[in-house]
Amino acid sequence: MSEVTLESKTKGLSGEVRVPGDKSISHRAVIFSSLAEGTSTITNFLTGEDCFRTVEAFRQMGVNIEEEGSTLKIHGQGVQKLTAPTQPINFGNSGTTARLMSGVLSALPFFTTAYGDESLSKRPMDRVVLPLKEMGAVIHGRNSSSFLPLAFSGTTLRGMRHELKVRSAQVKSALLLAGLLSEGDTTVVEKGVTRDHTEKLLPQYGVDLEVKGSEITISGGQALSASDLQVPGDISSAAFFMVAAAITPGSEVTIRDVGLNETRNGIVTALERMGASIDYDIHTYIGDEPVGDVRVSTSTLEGVTIEGELIANLIDEIPILALAATQAEGETVIKDAEELRVKETDRIYAVVENLKRLGADIEARDDGMVIKGGRALNGGVLDSFGDHRIGMMAAIASLVTEGPVTILDKECINISYPPFFEHLDQLR
Ligand code: S3P
Repeated sequence: MSEVTLESKTKGLSGEVRVPGDKSISHRAVIFSSLAEGTSTITNFLTGEDCFRTVEAFRQMGVNIEEEGSTLKIHGQGVQKLTAPTQPINFGNSGTTARLMSGVLSALPFFTTAYGDESLSKRPMDRVVLPLKEMGAVIHGRNSSSFLPLAFSGTTLRGMRHELKVRSAQVKSALLLAGLLSEGDTTVVEKGVTRDHTEKLLPQYGVDLEVKGSEITISGGQALSASDLQVPGDISSAAFFMVAAAITPGSEVTIRDVGLNETRNGIVTALERMGASIDYDIHTYIGDEPVGDVRVSTSTLEGVTIEGELIANLIDEIPILALAATQAEGETVIKDAEELRVKETDRIYAVVENLKRLGADIEARDDGMVIKGGRALNGGVLDSFGDHRIGMMAAIASLVTEGPVTILDKECINISYPPFFEHLDQLR
């Protein structure tokens, strides 16, 4: 397990950075291009470990995927030409691969088995397995198929109407993919708004779907055609530098070409509410995805309550938002975020434990946390708990601590942001 020690306090961050491609969109681009007929070129693909799990899954099913830096050339031959993997598929740490691919594998006419790492093996899969079984999927797995490893027998699925029990873009996308590969129509009724990259991107591959309020309907049996795509920068990665610039004295940072999809930009809303000096402009649309530059400078922050609808819109940014809250005047309350308990690690526990080690006034709640800001933070030894976003939060904390911060198990940052430390150094 590798560790790194970061010196405390910096003069301030300045300059520009381009964060790697969006993780959610990168996964979807690989899946849709692999199911399509023809060659799709994906640029600014996120070359993090998670997205390569999705790439490897399709390679095991016979898809030729060439890589050159952050460009992928995916030579799809259509769904019919996919072949049964001879070995189990390793989903690694990737929840998105596990959930979305469960939708795909359930509907392919062959047997597949899949497993994940220790963290992924603890994460709930019944949220996709149960609705897939209602469509006729034959899935076996540990603990009544609630957890990986899972085995998919592959069968003809029937389209149906699903009323989602969890608010989750992964579940929605898994069911839409299963619906696309099924007989008949599938409607997914969301429990609340979640990221809509699947709905925005599928039409680019020639797929028709209908979005009416919280209901999305897709007809089975549609063929996908290849499509080129430039992946926007990941707002979830950009969030670390937004907060870094806001809390570090003497900072002014511009993050270029960030995806600003309105189902993902909650971090900007939250920082605005906290009084941050942040602004952005949308300069391009890639397909239906808005892309822009975000500028942030040192800010005087105030505590806020983050709850309800906003939570899904910034779910992956809560660890770094909690760090921002330690630097704000007054109390920040984060609630309705119980989903954090089943992310790569229990993120409520991991955030509270780490920020307490730095001397922050922070308490866990079942569905979030309460942070009283304005206390100076000391240095310390923090644990990423193998979770990339916790590791990056720890690194950003070192910008404001009195002493150095050591981060245990820093390797996990490669899951979503391989050049993170390089970019942090550039801005320092
Ligand atoms: C993702 C959806 C979110 C998010 C995850 C990526 C996606 O998970 O936390 O990092 O790409 O669909 P849930 O759908 O489980 O909320």
